Amino acid sequence: MNHIMSIRNDPTKVYVETYGCQMNVADSELVGGILTRSGYTFTENLADAGVLLVNTCAIRENAEQRIYGRLGLLNSHRKHNPDLVIGILGCMAERLRSRLVDEERLVDLVVGPDEYRKLPVLIENALAGEKGIAVRLSRVEAYDDIVPLRTDGVSAWMSVMRGCDKFCTFCVVPFTRGRERSRPLRSIVEEATVLAGQGYRELTLLGQNVNSYRDGERDFADLMRSVAAVDSTMRIRFTTSHPQDMSDRLIDVIGATPNICKYVHLPVQSGSDRILRLMNRTYTVDHYRRLVEKLRLAVPGVSLSTDIISGFPTETVEDHERTRALMSEMRFDGAYTFKYSPRENTRAYAMPDDIPDEEKGRRVSEITTLQHAIAQEINAGMIGRTEIVLVEGRSKKSEADLTGRTDSNKTVVFPGDGSARGEFVTVRIERVNSATLFGSSIRGGDA
Ligand code: SAH
Ligand code: SF4
Ligand code: F3S
Repeated sequence: MNHIMSIRNDPTKVYVETYGCQMNVADSELVGGILTRSGYTFTENLADAGVLLVNTCAIRENAEQRIYGRLGLLNSHRKHNPDLVIGILGCMAERLRSRLVDEERLVDLVVGPDEYRKLPVLIENALAGEKGIAVRLSRVEAYDDIVPLRTDGVSAWMSVMRGCDKFCTFCVVPFTRGRERSRPLRSIVEEATVLAGQGYRELTLLGQNVNSYRDGERDFADLMRSVAAVDSTMRIRFTTSHPQDMSDRLIDVIGATPNICKYVHLPVQSGSDRILRLMNRTYTVDHYRRLVEKLRLAVPGVSLSTDIISGFPTETVEDHERTRALMSEMRFDGAYTFKYSPRENTRAYAMPDDIPDEEKGRRVSEITTLQHAIAQEINAGMIGRTEIVLVEGRSKKSEADLTGRTDSNKTVVFPGDGSARGEFVTVRIERVNSATLFGSSIRGGDA
């Protein structure tokens, strides 16, 4: 381990670690673009880096705890490398601000999501021994002119709007990401055109609330149609959608455009109208139900996933049962379930966190069990079918297998060699579990 011996790691080599949602993944690529322009290079090996950046998430307490643990470990590298610069980016930076530098003394830099343009200067100063905090939120910053540093080559994230104005009462995002703002449609289409030219096979349009995208008169349905028209062989996805802003026009565009994937992540959060009201989700269970009906009618075979919070303040066992009943009725292809975690500044923070942790855990596990059973049944119905899979690479579990996803966003594992990465392969599904489909590739003609 030569880093133990080293006196000073290369101060122009940056190592980035990313936590949280896809928006953070895309932001880390943005940071990559900004720093590359200023002469920095990136390394996957933290022992080589002179600058360590952690792009953080503040959505739940346990997300932050994990990152604190990691920061402690990164700090231990200072022993051998006293000039190391450690910076915290993203939502925790925005939430905790100077606390991270003053009280914890863990980091040299704290940079919020709207201040990444300042990174080259802040790193420069930090290398000279000056701590830096930049956490102003902006009403306009959309980094439209920055070319993100992408390395995947097959699948690309494209941030199309930033921030969130919904103020769900449990959620810290409007405080860490600021107000909603959108990039111009034309420049998003130009970026998609460049990515198509570079050989990308899949684009995912990103925003915390992507359906409220707006560029003058043009909305998210217009944007999706325009991006999909760039290259009809490229898959187009988007995430995530708030039920209130899922317009009929968008549903029609998804249904009518072959290369827009038939998959929608539509967080419901709860199956109880009383809880939805307390959450300020602005829709009712019945509204959600009709939305799903509309989607399934306009987009036959559409795959749906959702997010659920268990143990929101005052949630009773009856409320919880309503959520389970809604899940049985909706039959989601996937569901992410979280224990409610009180977040400072949010409106729910003032409500009593009155569901014991153990009870939250019990409700989460009931929901997870139910969801696994539903997903297992849905997936079992796919046995014998053929699916077009975009190959992402080798399976993590087996060298001889490839992994990729269907149009409906299901993970498929099948035997094959690594050269197929980035190709669309027809796979016959032979067996399934609740998370993965397994099969074998067949020649195009058999499909
Ligand atoms: N913008 C997305 C959600 C982003 S956060 C949307 O509204 O669809 C991802 C998920 O984290 C949310 O859907 C919610 O289920 C969960 N979440 C957010 N805040 C939470 C909290 N305080 N406690 C537990 N889960 C939370
Ligand atoms: Fe948070 Fe609600 Fe905005 Fe989603 S829509 S990011 S849950 S405030
Ligand atoms: Fe986390 Fe911020 Fe995303 S809080 S979920 S990284 S927007």
